[in-house]
Amino acid sequence: MKPFIMDHPLIKHKLTLIRDKNTGSKEFRELITEVATLMCYEATRDLPLEEIEIETPICKTKSHVISGRKLAVVPILRAGMGMVDGMMTLVPAAKIGHIGLYRDPETHTPVEYYCKLPADISQREVIVVDPMLATGGSAVDAIRMIKEKGAKNIKFMCIIAAPEGLEALTKAHPDVKIYCASLDEKLNDDKYIIPGLGDAGDRIYGTK
Ligand code: PRP
Ligand code: URA
Repeated sequence: MKPFIMDHPLIKHKLTLIRDKNTGSKEFRELITEVATLMCYEATRDLPLEEIEIETPICKTKSHVISGRKLAVVPILRAGMGMVDGMMTLVPAAKIGHIGLYRDPETHTPVEYYCKLPADISQREVIVVDPMLATGGSAVDAIRMIKEKGAKNIKFMCIIAAPEGLEALTKAHPDVKIYCASLDEKLNDDKYIIPGLGDAGDRIYGTK
């Protein structure tokens, strides 16, 4: 499935500020939240609607509400947590699951340390969020874990993707629609995205 790459000027502008190494943690967190909200608007564009009857102060009328499957937002810890508030601004009734993965600094492969998902995840449309898709290892594993709990309708939303990560994720989970704000150039030898934004978790939480 072809990834959806955002082209909205507001997202592009905010992404420039996010990438800038002089942007401090407070502003970085706020920008990640704002971009997540804007991306959520796009990623929920295909939610099904149904018509219901309501009464305005003037008359009865038919109007639309979201129907069908309910949503779950699943951040990949830690950095994915930075996108949750932005998502919940638009879909406040969504349930939130958590998947804990970190990249081993030597092998760059993901190590699992936590998984807690809504009990009815199999009946929900799931949006997995993580600012970075680098090698793709973390996203591939997180989505595998969610599928093992029965979920079938899964989207993946990241702020910056590397071509290597997109390829790995598309190959492992061809059914998952991917949304990203930018498709960057490549990975460096340490598997960081070029030009990227550095270490998303460290910049959100000020840990370096
Ligand atoms: C970062 C990022 C992704 C992962 C991407 O997390 O938030 O989860 O790396 O890399 P990959 O595509 O090569 O797997 P990290 O492992 O640094 O953990 P953190 O969020 O706790 O800082
Ligand atoms: N994780 C990050 O936080 N940044 C990268 O560039 C790659 C993985």
